[in-house]
Amino acid sequence: MSRRRARPLKVQPLESGGHLNIGIQMHDRIRSSALLERLMTAEQAASLIEPGMTVAMSGFTGAGYPKAVPQALAARMEQSAASGRGFKIKVLTGASTAPELDGALARVEGMELRLPYQSDPNVRERINAGTLNYIDIHLSHVAQHTWFGFFGDINVAVVEVAGILEDGRLIPSSSVGNNKTWLDQADKVILEVNRWQPAALEGMHDIYYGTALPPNRKPIPLTLPDQRIGEPYLRVDPDRIVAIVETDAPDRNSAFSPPDEASRQIAGHLLDFLGQEIRRGRLTDKLLPLQSGVGNIANAVLAGLSQGGYQGLTAYTEVIQDGMLELLKNGTLRMASATSFSLSPAGIEEFNAHVEFYSKRILLRPQEISNHPELIRRLGCIAMNGMIEADIYGNVNSTHIAGSRIMNGIGGSGDFARNGYLSVFMSPSIAKQGKISGIVPMASHVDHTEHDTMVVVTEQGLADLRGLAPKQRAKQIIEHCAHPDYRPLLQDYYDRAFRDSYGKHTPHLLNEALSWHQRFVETGTMMPG
Ligand code: COA
Repeated sequence: MSRRRARPLKVQPLESGGHLNIGIQMHDRIRSSALLERLMTAEQAASLIEPGMTVAMSGFTGAGYPKAVPQALAARMEQSAASGRGFKIKVLTGASTAPELDGALARVEGMELRLPYQSDPNVRERINAGTLNYIDIHLSHVAQHTWFGFFGDINVAVVEVAGILEDGRLIPSSSVGNNKTWLDQADKVILEVNRWQPAALEGMHDIYYGTALPPNRKPIPLTLPDQRIGEPYLRVDPDRIVAIVETDAPDRNSAFSPPDEASRQIAGHLLDFLGQEIRRGRLTDKLLPLQSGVGNIANAVLAGLSQGGYQGLTAYTEVIQDGMLELLKNGTLRMASATSFSLSPAGIEEFNAHVEFYSKRILLRPQEISNHPELIRRLGCIAMNGMIEADIYGNVNSTHIAGSRIMNGIGGSGDFARNGYLSVFMSPSIAKQGKISGIVPMASHVDHTEHDTMVVVTEQGLADLRGLAPKQRAKQIIEHCAHPDYRPLLQDYYDRAFRDSYGKHTPHLLNEALSWHQRFVETGTMMPG
């Protein structure tokens, strides 16, 4: 499949005497003198984005997203709206971003479509109000869907980089995400060169250019998490670069709060389970490459591994957080492969202070590789992700409250859960001070089916569902994972369903299965009475 020919575009370089034109020695991150001519302000660059365009932006969590152009665009949208000429664009990214991108555009009602994963409160509010269309797809699918044109043409890519080489190749920033695809596919490219990003990022990326589309797809030659199969730089056709904007702005990743009691208990159950698996000979003491979602519970699991005597583990995951630096430092992890480097200010400081050490142990890849089903299956990842709720048979809802209200999105959880060696879903057994049970008769939305879920763990305990039929799974989940306040209600539901159900394979009372959610919507709690 070949991409459309890009239309040549005339660009206005930054005028002599403009506030950014401060001499070549200041532009040490832009080593190509030819490209220096395309330097301009964020406002000038944003003016190249027209109403209705499809704009693909960098960013994966609060890392590596453009920081200046989206804000300049949002300001222009606000002015246009004030004069009655408001407009919107369609926005594609790697995953969630930060307030300067998602927040800024959502606040001015500047997006008509957003994909894939998001976690911004303003974006969430608009999606749930029905004014913003959201396509929540597996992160590994985005590149292929783009190449096949399912999202239409990509008019502009806005990509943050850490620098530009003499020959025009790009030093990727703190996340790679879908940038390779955006740079390959967009008609026009706007680059933000962020001098805040550590110079030491150069060389830490592994950009694989061997992916092809069916029927020409070949095996991806990666058999170990630390293997390099690509090159450290992103390629881009220099003729399509229409603007370069310099920034000096930090990524937006906040520090994690220390794990709470429930998270520590969940981590404890999971670590006990992994220990048992080693004793049974199903895992070695090096485990298998770890994938860990982000958040409090995931962080507690990482902290637990660190204290569990493990050494020389590997991670094949999406995001490297502060916790992983700690594991690398104390030898628990030998190396980590991801697509994003999501560090807090303290994490960045730690990284910068020990660059030599970390840069030998961390690899950042495009998300179509970090999340590739072929590779996750081959490596046999241990996938550990959060969930909103699980039902008594093991169907998992990661995305919706009461079946209709989006929280964040599926992210990469489906890529890893379906294809990993072990798929674990974790959550406290109750939410909102006990008004909500995390274990329900029937999941109000299903992201991961009973066929994908192998282990469910709450602070109450762990249910190993492998090798079990639905009725056996229900027993494990109710006994080990449900909160004591909800356990008798779940048992009662199951017993009556087994007695009265239309079929006895996966017993359900169809007129009652979602009544807990309905009760929550009507009364604010799932608890009867
Ligand atoms: N009903 C209603 N609200 C619920 C709930 C439920 N069953 N379960 C959790 N919540 C709420 C919590 O109360 C909390 O709300 P708050 O922000 O108002 O305090 C919020 O959801 C987050 O829950 P928390 O228990 O703190 O866990 P978390 O931060 O780990 O998030 C998910 C849980 C499911 C939202 C999160 O893991 C997610 O988005 N997962 C999908 C994507 C994914 O797995 N990514 C990893 C690979 S990319």
